[in-house]
Parts: sequence; structure tokens; C-alpha cells
Amino acid sequence: MNLPNNITIIEVGPRDGLQNEKNFVPTDVKKEFIFKLKESGVKEMELTSFVSPKWVPQMQDASDIVDSCLTIDSRDIVLAPNKKGIERVYETDCQSVAVFVGVSNTFNQKNINKSTQEALEGLTPLILQLKERGYFVRACISTAFYCPYEGKVSPEDTLDLCKKFVHLGVDELSVADTIGRANPLEAFTLFSLLRTELPDVLLTAHFHDTRKMALANIFASLQAGIDRFDTSAGGLGGCPFAPGATGNVATEDVVFMVEELGISTGVNLEKLAQAIDVIKPYTSRPIESGYYRLYELNK
Ligand code: HMG
Ligand code: MG
Repeated sequence: MNLPNNITIIEVGPRDGLQNEKNFVPTDVKKEFIFKLKESGVKEMELTSFVSPKWVPQMQDASDIVDSCLTIDSRDIVLAPNKKGIERVYETDCQSVAVFVGVSNTFNQKNINKSTQEALEGLTPLILQLKERGYFVRACISTAFYCPYEGKVSPEDTLDLCKKFVHLGVDELSVADTIGRANPLEAFTLFSLLRTELPDVLLTAHFHDTRKMALANIFASLQAGIDRFDTSAGGLGGCPFAPGATGNVATEDVVFMVEELGISTGVNLEKLAQAIDVIKPYTSRPIESGYYRLYELNK
């Protein structure tokens, strides 16, 4: 079986995990969560997003989070959807930016108030400028498998959008099953196609776990040559503009599964559970990951 020796975990809990929480999580709690995640060994993380606070009030403290949480030993990433967001990033010391756009038009209209084409046109000069200034740029490709409004998305359409970002010079593509609808065969097929067609870009899989298929999809993606996974501590998360979608696959369950397969992650599970202890009192949904439930029982 074709499995890597190591994988990279990109922790998205502080951003994707919290953006959907209705009650504002105190900024100091977010900071402690981020530092505990770093202590667990996570080396790449989405800290927050510079989006409109009217659209996503939970992320209104983005500048404060970034000012306090950047460290030199990890790649700390922030999301930004437009010029205003990127100008806010330029006011910080953060050096890694994630832009985001879905393959599907309707999802983009709901999420960023633009069509796919309008979003791409708006982002083009911004990405070129980020690259000129030496930033690490990640492009998050939403609805790569299914759209909550339009249904099935073809692998060719996803490949087409991915290629456009690669031509603009992005360093990484994070390709997302936004509503947790893909099955392992679809994951294997799309990631095999992307890996073959786009050999020179960092390629990351981002699975939401709505139908509890994410671990199976990760196993399938590993066999397609993928060794980078976005995950969220405690399985928190969801996009406010993707109705019904639940959290990302839980970091602790991914770490446990792949370490059992002999694949290193560099993440310490006990310390990761302690990071979840920090955020748990502030989340509206129970933490349902297998690893964390057992950790609590054995406490
Ligand atoms: P809009 O209303 O069309 O924007 O929203 P606008 O340009 O007309 O501006 C409206 C107001 O927002 C103005 O303020 C702007 O200054 C302000 P006003 O004059 O009314 O006082 N504004 C901003 N403020 C702060 N930061 C900004 C910003 N931009 C405008 N960056 C916009 C367009 C893109 C801003 C809005 O739709 C938005 O913020 N959307 C973000 C939605 C979001 O965060 N979604 C979740 C992240 S994506 C995701 O979760 C998917 C992912 O996980 C992968 C997957 O799972 O699929 C990555
Ligand atoms: Mg997501």
C-alpha cells in the first residue's frame, strides 16, 4: 500500500473551528487555545480570518489574535477574502495568507457575495502582489466535490479552478469537501487527478465530517499521494454559509489513525487534548471525537 512516512497537520480549529460559533469566544481563550495547540507540536495553523465582522462577527478580533500569537517556529496563516482583508494583513507581521473561493457560483455568492469569476478577477492582482512581497499564499478551494446549493461538482471544474491559482503562483492549494459529502472513491479520484496534473504545488486535503466519512476520505487521499491535511482540534467548525455542514475532521482522530498506521505527525495527543480542554467550555456543540471521549473517560 502506498503510504507516506510523515504527514503535515494544518490545524484550522482557531479559524474554521470557531468561525461558526454564535457566542463570542473571549479573545484570551482563543489565544490560549492557539498556544496550547502549538505546544502539542502543530507547525502550521490558520489563526483567524480578516473577513467582514458584519458577516462573521466571531473573527472581529483577528488583528489582536495575530499580534499576540505569531511565532517563528510555525507557519501561522490568516484568511483574507479581498483587498480590505489583505490590507489588514499588511498591517501585521503575518507572512502567510489564505485566499478562498469555491468552485460553485452559488456558494461564492452566499459566502463572499461574488461569482467564481468575479472572485478570481478580484483576487488576481492581490495574489500577484502578495507573491511579489514574498508572502506564502494558500488558496482554499471550497465545494471541490459538492456544493450545498448546486449539488455535484465535476473533478474537471475543480481542476480547472486549481490550475488558475497555480498559474498565479500560489504555494499551496487546500482542496475542500465543504459539506462533508464526498466518499473515499471520489476523494481518491480527485486527489489522484490533482496530484498528477499539478505536481509542483503543495496539495492539502480539507475534509468536513458531516457524514463521518472524513477519516475514510483521508485514508483514500493518502493512497493518492496526499500528505497534508487540514484538521480541527475537537472536530470543531463549519462554514456559516454552508448550511448543515458540521466541523472539520478532528485533529486527534486523524493523528491517532495515521500514527497507528506508522505515519508520523509530530503532534502529541495528550497535549492536543489539553488544548481542547481550553476551548471546550466555549463551544456550542459537544466534542464527539473518539480520541477525546476516551481521554475524558480516563481522566
Ligand atoms: P460585501 O458586503 O460584499 O463587502 O462582503 P463590501 O466590499 O461591499 O463591504 C461591505 C462592508 O464590509 C464595508 O463596511 C467594508 O469596509 C467591510 P461599511 O462601509 O459597510 O462599514 N469589509 C470588511 N471589513 C473588514 N475586513 C474585510 C472587509 N471587507 C469588506 N476583509 C465580503 C464581501 C467578502 C467582505 C464578505 O462576504 C465576507 O467577509 N465574507 C467572508 C465569509 C467567511 O468568512 N466565510 C468563511 C470562510 S471560508 C470557509 O470557511 C471555507 C473553507 O474552510 C474551505 C471549505 O471548507 O470549503 C476555507
Ligand atoms: Mg472549511
